[in-house]
This record gives sequence, structure tokens and C-alpha cells, in this order.
Amino acid sequence: MICGSKNKSYLKSQNLKIFGQGKLNGRIEISGAKNSALVLLAATLLTNERIILENVPRLTDIEKMRNILKNLGVNILDKNNTLEIDSKNISIKELPYKLVNRLRASFFCIGALLSKFGEAKVPLPGGCNIGLRPIDEHINGLKALGAEIIIEEGIVKAKIKDKRKKLCGTNIKLKCPSVGATETLIMAASLAEGRTIIENAAREPEIQDLCQMLNKMGAKIFDSGKEKIIIDGVNKLGGCTHKVIPDRIEAGTFLIAAAATSSSITIYPVIPNHLEAVTNKLQESGSKITIKGNSITINGKEIKGVDIDTAPFPGFPTDLQAPFTALMTIAKGESKITETIFENRMNHIHLLNKMGACIKLNKNVAHIKGVKTIKGMDLVGSDLRSSAALIIAGIIAKGNSNIYGLEHLDRGYENFESKLKMLGINIKREFKKRTLNDEEYKVNSETDEIPKFRAA
Ligand code: EPZ
Repeated sequence: MICGSKNKSYLKSQNLKIFGQGKLNGRIEISGAKNSALVLLAATLLTNERIILENVPRLTDIEKMRNILKNLGVNILDKNNTLEIDSKNISIKELPYKLVNRLRASFFCIGALLSKFGEAKVPLPGGCNIGLRPIDEHINGLKALGAEIIIEEGIVKAKIKDKRKKLCGTNIKLKCPSVGATETLIMAASLAEGRTIIENAAREPEIQDLCQMLNKMGAKIFDSGKEKIIIDGVNKLGGCTHKVIPDRIEAGTFLIAAAATSSSITIYPVIPNHLEAVTNKLQESGSKITIKGNSITINGKEIKGVDIDTAPFPGFPTDLQAPFTALMTIAKGESKITETIFENRMNHIHLLNKMGACIKLNKNVAHIKGVKTIKGMDLVGSDLRSSAALIIAGIIAKGNSNIYGLEHLDRGYENFESKLKMLGINIKREFKKRTLNDEEYKVNSETDEIPKFRAA
């Protein structure tokens, strides 16, 4: 079932028309990382001074986070991909349900608001169609730092017990290396009293980017990117200028698209060691990869099947599991794709099978037998990364495809179809005069394999 979109007509009235069996050629510029920019925006709540954030991608998720900050009283000046953010006039410490409900990442604001103002009220972010997305690690860590937390009518109400309104540094061991929980707790601990050690911390590049910006603001954070992070709380954080790192997931998506079409492209700017698990797997499956400074060139050759287990960084990223699965549908031989991070992130499998792929799904393990070709058809993406996978499948397929569910795609890929067009793909966004009626729309989007989760 499509992640419930508030604006169904938007969902039905736009599609990407793809003329199949395309080839990519040329150089493509990678945008700033969505999952870094979102948490960096939340971190601006920690200071009264101006933050200049450069290389911010223009995405609907970023738009939603900006609206949340504006709703709190933050002033944001937009200069294309540079934002000037001023949080000195924050008037309220409560995030409205209607804004949080549509953007899970807004929950990261709780650590910053609590640490800066001594209190915060943030609605529960809820699950979405890739999983239940719990926040117990965020809550337990904030409690360990001295927060009093109650959850009433779906609202997380946090306040600092200590009358000095300061959180107190402590040792926290996460049960799983949660990216969001690590980020929430780093932001909370940055203004706490004393030292906080986070063990089993997530090591993603987006966390390292957050720590780099916080240290520019005057924080004292050590060993970000390792599984034990040390934060010595400070009294105040100042302003800074910071450039968002390149988006490793967008970069990986383009590399996979090139491999799937036996094309040669160069992507830049990238940070190669952010993509090591992906480039290693692409090389193992037969592509030639050349790294030169901050650019990667891929020469797609005949693809052979390889096995993937998604894992926390530096393992193979769950966000590229769906695009890589699309690649494996036409690989020579067999492959096995195991999703270990989210309990429901195989929504693209039944659609790839409708296109003629040969995939047997057993819970979160996909056993794939490569086929010669798959055929184009009308498809509806059900989350951000499965939509990207369907576009790759449409580019590979024989015949034309119409991909719906662009509301998901526009959350995380800046100018995706224009970049593909620049690389030589025959693709265009169509705005239907009439929206599809429910019957037409239901084609390929409903399946009993996908439990119905509420939208994030
Ligand atoms: C971040 O989500 C990313 N989102 C996701 O990207 C990414 O897939 C994910 O990390 C994993 O890399 C942003 O950064 C905005 P987690 P997050 O907390 O922080 C369990 C995309 O497509 N868990 O690392 O929500 C959870 O159930 C998005 O760009 C708990 O049990 O992910 C999941 O199984 C999708 N308790 C696992 O940890 C908690 O308190 C990983 O979740 C938190 C998480």
C-alpha cells in the first residue's frame, strides 16, 4: 500500500515516463546529503548565533524540516542551496503533530530543544511502510542524561529534572547502532554537564558530518565515526559556516544505474570511503571502478550475481538495497539479498517480478535468478528508495514504463530525472490533466505482502 500521502492527487497526477533500454554517459554532479542536511538543520537549534549551511539539497524533506524550524520561530534565509539560519528568537518548544507526522527526522529536534531550553514536546514519529521505526533508544538515552519523559496522547513530553536545567553527562550503551538515536544523544550531550560516552554508536558519515559542524560551533566531540563517541558538554555553542557532505546514497544510485545499463559515467563530488561497501560489491559483480580524488568513474560490464547483506556503516547501506536488487534482476546467475536493518523494506520485489524478474522472497531474504530482460509497465513506488529501484528497472526494461509515487522520490533525490536526462536517458515527468481513478491507480500498488503501516 502506498505510504499514505496527504496529497493523493499529487501522487496520481504525476509520473515519470521512461523509454527503456537506455544507456548513461557523461559526468553527473552529486547533491548534498539529505540525511546529513536534515540533522544539521535540527542542530541549529542548539545556538543563538547564525549558522550558514551550504550545499543543502532542494528536497521536500528539507522543505518540511525548514517549516518545522520556522514554526518554532527560527529565521531562515534561502540563497539557493545555501541557508542562513538564525535561531535566537525561538518562541515555542513544541513541534506540531501535522508537521512531525510527515517527517520522521523531525524527531531529532527533541535532543537539541531539550538540551538548549530544558524542555521539549515532540509528537511520536510513528512507523512508515519500511517498518515500525521505534524511538526507544532515543528515549532511554535522554532519560540516562537526566531527562524526565512522559508520553501522553502520542506526544513525547521531555524536561530536565535538574533545577539548573542542565542534562548530566553519563555512559550510554545503545542496544543497536541507531543513526537517529546516536544523533539525538550527541546533540543532547553537547550542552550537558560533564562527559558522555555513547557505546555501540552508529558510525554513518552523516553522524561524522554532524560532529564536525558541532565542533565548529564549539562542541567537544571526539571519535565520531567510531563505535564509542565521547562528548564533553560545554556551556554554549556558537555559529559557524558548514558545507553538507555529498549524498552517498544518491551517488550509489547513479553507480548502480550505470552498472545496470553497462554504461560508463563519472560522479562527483563524492567522498570515496563513504561508498566503499557499494563500489566493492559493484566490482565483485563485474563493473570496473576508478577513483580519482573526489570523483568515481564506473565502466559497467556484464553483471554477474553477487550476495548482499545490508548492515550499519561501513557495511552495505540499507538505502541502496532496493536499487541493487533491481540491478541483480538481470545479472548472470543467482544472487541473494538480505535486508537486516528494516523489517519491511522489500516492497519493490513483487513489482520487479511483475516486470518479469525471477525473485523468490522469504521474509527479508530475496533469492534472485537473473533473467535476460524485464518488461516495462506502469508501477507505483511505495517508499523513497523503492521508487529509485523502479526507475532503474524502467531504464533496464524492454518497452516503456510509467513510474508513479513521485511524492516519495522527490523526498530524497534532487532533480533526479533531469540528471538522468543529462546522462542520456529518455525520461520525462508527465503531469496528467486527469488523475487516475482509484481502480486504475490500484494496479501494482496494492499487495497483501505489504503490511499497512501509517505514514511516517
Ligand atoms: C536513518 O533512519 C536514515 N534516515 C534512514 O534513511 C536510514 O535507512 C537509516 O538511518 C539506517 O541507516 C535519516 O537519517 C533521516 P535507525 P533512522 O534508527 O535513524 C531500530 C532514507 O531512505 N531502532 O538507524 O530512523 C529501527 O527499528 C532513510 O533516506 C530501534 O530499535 O534509522 C531499525 O530497525 C530511510 N530503536 C534500526 O534500528 C530506536 O530507538 C535502524 O534504525 C531507533 C531505531
